[in-house]
Amino acid sequence: MNNEFNHDTYWSDTWIKHIESYLAVPPRAGYWITSHFPVSLSILEIAGGSCRDSRYLVSQDLDVIGSDFDQKTLDYLAKRYPESPLLMQKEDAFSLSFANKSIGLSFSNGFWVLFENNQQIYSLIHEQARITEKYMISLVHNIENIKLVNQFKECTKLDSLYDIRFFHREELLEIINESGLKYKSIVMRKFGGPIDKLLTPKIKGIKNPIQTITKKIVPHVYDYQPWTVTERIACVIEL
Ligand SMILES: C[S@@+](CC[C@H](N)C(=O)[O-])C[C@H]1O[C@@H](n2cnc3c(N)ncnc32)[C@H](O)[C@@H]1O
Repeated sequence: MNNEFNHDTYWSDTWIKHIESYLAVPPRAGYWITSHFPVSLSILEIAGGSCRDSRYLVSQDLDVIGSDFDQKTLDYLAKRYPESPLLMQKEDAFSLSFANKSIGLSFSNGFWVLFENNQQIYSLIHEQARITEKYMISLVHNIENIKLVNQFKECTKLDSLYDIRFFHREELLEIINESGLKYKSIVMRKFGGPIDKLLTPKIKGIKNPIQTITKKIVPHVYDYQPWTVTERIACVIEL
């Protein structure tokens, strides 16, 4: 795995190359959260990078903060979206500035995949649980999707950003239990897959006429696909 992931300078340099392509992708985690959780909860995105999903959630009138530890990226986004009402702040996921239980729902997407060492993930779990009142969510890449694993292996040859950890849902459950976290319930849900094609903003250059409907339907369709084609595991912990 890429051991530079822990440095904000790595991310400042990496985002210069990648941020626009991340911003061009539909905010799938945003669609998924609004489809499955009460809109009355306050929301924090941890390690949000492009903060694409937070920006979508705030456009739906939700109470959201986007965060990341890389100030350069946050500055870029503030200039890129001068009109956006999204509150963004610098936060280190290992040491968040929020009071205990002050956030209704916290989530990260593609973040735990940066850590090979389970001890670091235990720390992240406890810090996220400290500030979260109801739901903590982590979306991580799914090792049961062999095609995706192989695609990432190929891409790693050209770009270290793809050199991430993939998880099995049982391994994830084990990690959470080994961390000693006390929770009410935990569920591993399916996120991302072939059905996402329906979310494409444009089909053959023409605006996708059904996107307003598909963004509501697709997050529910994930549940019916096999794990072998599922892109990410959405680990949902109710505290
Ligand atoms: C793969 S990106 C996440 C992508 C994001 N979900 C998106 O859609 O744009 C990982 C992010 O984690 C951030 N990061 C890495 N270590 C961090 C830490 N300790 N605290 C907060 N953010 C961190 C990086 O700056 C980077 O933006």
